[in-house]
Amino acid sequence: MTHPDTAHTGASRPSWDETVRPFFTAPLTRDLTVDVCVVGAGLAGLTTAYLLAREGRRVAVLDQGPVGGGNTGRTTAQLANAFDDRYSEVIRLYGEAGARAVAQSHTAAIDLIERISQEEGIACDFERVSGYLFVPPGASRRVLSEELEAARRAGLREVAWVDKAPLEGFDTLPCLHFPNQAQFDPMRYLRGLAHAFGARGGELYTETAVQTVEGGAPAKVRTHSGLTVTAGAVVVATNAPIHDRVATHTKQAPYLSFVIAAEVPRGSVQRALYWDTEDPYHYVRLQSLDEATELLLVGGEDHKTGQADDAPARYGRLEAWARERFPKLGRVRYRWSGQVYETLDGLAFIGRSPGEENVYLVTGDSGMGMTHGSLAGVLLRDLILGRDNPWATLYDPARKPLKAGGAFLKENLNVAAQFLDLATPARGDAAALGPGEGAVVGFGPAKRAVYRDEAGVLHERSAICPHLGCVVAWNSAERTWDCPCHGSRFDAYGRVINGPAHRGLEPK
Ligand SMILES: Cc1cc2nc3c(=O)[nH]c(=O)nc-3n(C[C@H](O)[C@H](O)[C@H](O)COP(=O)(O)OP(=O)(O)OC[C@H]3O[C@@H](n4cnc5c(N)ncnc54)[C@H](O)[C@@H]3O)c2cc1C
Ligand code: FES
Repeated sequence: MTHPDTAHTGASRPSWDETVRPFFTAPLTRDLTVDVCVVGAGLAGLTTAYLLAREGRRVAVLDQGPVGGGNTGRTTAQLANAFDDRYSEVIRLYGEAGARAVAQSHTAAIDLIERISQEEGIACDFERVSGYLFVPPGASRRVLSEELEAARRAGLREVAWVDKAPLEGFDTLPCLHFPNQAQFDPMRYLRGLAHAFGARGGELYTETAVQTVEGGAPAKVRTHSGLTVTAGAVVVATNAPIHDRVATHTKQAPYLSFVIAAEVPRGSVQRALYWDTEDPYHYVRLQSLDEATELLLVGGEDHKTGQADDAPARYGRLEAWARERFPKLGRVRYRWSGQVYETLDGLAFIGRSPGEENVYLVTGDSGMGMTHGSLAGVLLRDLILGRDNPWATLYDPARKPLKAGGAFLKENLNVAAQFLDLATPARGDAAALGPGEGAVVGFGPAKRAVYRDEAGVLHERSAICPHLGCVVAWNSAERTWDCPCHGSRFDAYGRVINGPAHRGLEPK
């Protein structure tokens, strides 16, 4: 299978994506019996696999693509215990004890990445930096006062007001300082983790797509090529769970997030993490490029997956936002997008998969998938080994965040509205497509996803998402078909690149 990334020609990402390319593993070619089978070789899956291999368990990881080919290769890799959805909200939903568990678990996740990179000698540019949270011009700072109080109640005693973030030419006015945040190169880390996992006897199989996961004692994983992995426990770490058709997907919503990386003279912007409180918010950090230059990574402009196709405008707004605040901003070198899953309460789902014996899952990164994915490794290891873990209830996938009922209703009404597309004609016209363009054509359930390749050849698939039947939409920047309901994504030829669908668009 050609890796889906090779079909993405509309956007580009920094070189950390390439750093993992030379890492070679082979597809699975025989049935296997192991203690634990992990599906998904992103940060969450590999951290879990590594920690279990350290405990002497026989672990196999299966991925449909290469290591880090999912959203871990699209991240901006900020490591924060400043909680994206606010500690004040966690206290409202789960009280002070819940907020303390959030602060402890995200802090522990940052420490874990630092410790693993030191112990395993992974040169991933891990670096401790400060984080600054500020409001947009003219907005009330009450949200910051409330967050300061909530963060301290969560145990982050060192969070404090500062007069402004340490930026020349951009006065954030008084804002909150979160010390001891961090950043790193996620793909170098992932490659190091994969090697460390292999050195402990771990088995890593790439280009091995999983079709089904069956709970039981033992549990079973079946691949598209007809092979079976039998395991005492299975961890589904596919970003969006591929084995659970409905339950989890009604409690989280897929968003595309956009990033630009622009040159700035080295030293002209203080290395730190910067966040504002706009909705959607902006996030900023620096990445080394060469001796004279750094890249300023600026992210935001999120929209619900499959519900807009205006990436150039979003990149333009990110650039305009950054130019206004960072006067030394130079050429934009890279721009790309990726998907995040927002849960109703901002907390990931990590733990036993409801109703499935010996099956575990991790999903719902909520834009904090580096820390959620790392703490998932610890939590899932403990659950699988029968150990107590103080974060288990907080992240339990079976939880129903009742006090977040308004958000639940809004997101599910939005999904219901997408099914109306099945009763309307599509506006696309296959004959009008130029090279590299795609459109949905036809009527109702017979709608087709039509793509004209660079050589002018038309490729047609069904436009009906094989997950639960929504109509996919063309994403012209990434050249993908994106499902507006639960975030399944397919390359231009209809091959699946993101769950919950585990198979491609049907041929017509
Ligand atoms: C633009 C952007 C910026 C972000 N910034 C941050 C940030 O600053 N800080 C932060 O903490 N988080 C951030 N995130 C979130 C974070 O990057 C992700 O949550 C995290 O990388 C997800 O890791 P994962 O292991 O869960 O999933 P992935 O990395 O997506 O890995 C899932 C793997 O499962 C595989 N898979 C899927 N289906 C199958 C199947 N059927 N069979 C076999 N394998 C399968 C995929 O190929 C993939 O390799 C950002 C995300 C984006 C998109
Ligand atoms: S992802 Fe659920 S219907 Fe497409």
